Amino acid sequence: MSRSFRHFLSLREIPREDLDALCLLALSLKRREAVARLPGRVLGMLFFNPSVRTRASFESAMARLGGASIALAAGRDTWNFEHREGIAMDGATQEHVKELAPVLSRYCDVLGVRKSELVTTSATTAEVSGSWDDLKRDGFLRALARYATVPVINLESNADHPCQGLADRMTLLERCPGPDGPRGVKYVLTWAWHTKSLPMATPNSQLEAAASLGMDVTLLCPEGWELDPEVTAAARASAEAAGGGLRVTHDRDAALAGARFLCAKEWGSTRYYGRFDEERRDKERLREAWRVDGRWMARTAGASFMHCLPVRRGVVVADDVLDSPASIVVDQAENRMWAQMALLASLLGEPG
Ligand code: CP
Repeated sequence: MSRSFRHFLSLREIPREDLDALCLLALSLKRREAVARLPGRVLGMLFFNPSVRTRASFESAMARLGGASIALAAGRDTWNFEHREGIAMDGATQEHVKELAPVLSRYCDVLGVRKSELVTTSATTAEVSGSWDDLKRDGFLRALARYATVPVINLESNADHPCQGLADRMTLLERCPGPDGPRGVKYVLTWAWHTKSLPMATPNSQLEAAASLGMDVTLLCPEGWELDPEVTAAARASAEAAGGGLRVTHDRDAALAGARFLCAKEWGSTRYYGRFDEERRDKERLREAWRVDGRWMARTAGASFMHCLPVRRGVVVADDVLDSPASIVVDQAENRMWAQMALLASLLGEPG
């Protein structure tokens, strides 16, 4: 398939026609109607943060394509990397992206990086090293893409998780097989309560994925937990260009009425970004009311339940939803692999 993009960093930077082509190829690969082969090609991945699905699905994708993959845990398996320009590296960093990117480009045909500065691996707290306005520029990812001589895939940054968005987009297409597909179908992305302040990358990409399909998109959240206005404005423009629309609401009943897809996600507030103890104290009042359960689902139009995983059972979503036939979270996770096979085939070769 032809494509107009060099790197895959944000769904907002990929033309809708390319997203459509990637999803159609992914569906064809899944149905065994198409074959893609990348023998002898190598994917290199740098993980600054933990992962199950992203790492396993990319490694599986590359193996099924006949290629190979290298996954490095950044900082543990590697040197510490610097991406800022013009600084003396007399601190904790030993290698600059200006060397790292071209060197890895000699070994690998495509690179992936997961780097979210909002670190959430401790049981109760989150830590961040800068302001949202600074971190949403994804300095390391953008520097790697600037200095690499091969395509770069964002495996989740501060601002975006485009591979999750692509897989969700494929899943929505798969679940709406009619002549109009998902266009005009009601999709609700809802905030859900969580013990910690989680990154906004995934909901940013999920919103864009549904919007770019021309769906009737609703973003449901408590006041103060809206997504970045630039992200919402871009998604609204995408939705309208594709024949759909987007609204932001705090009214749960209105949001759930008529919904055919309910996607839950936890994320931190831009209002409190970096002041996570304050956020935790404020959002405690939302704990019970913003856990998705069967009562939520009963107000929808028989919605399918979506979540990117991992999910905290009994906190974000009740068992009665996750264990019900409405839950399509495992299919969503499977589609990460097919969507990424299509992406890799598109970046590195042609389907056979
Ligand atoms: N959804 C997702 O990206 O999962 P992992 O964090 O396990 O890769």
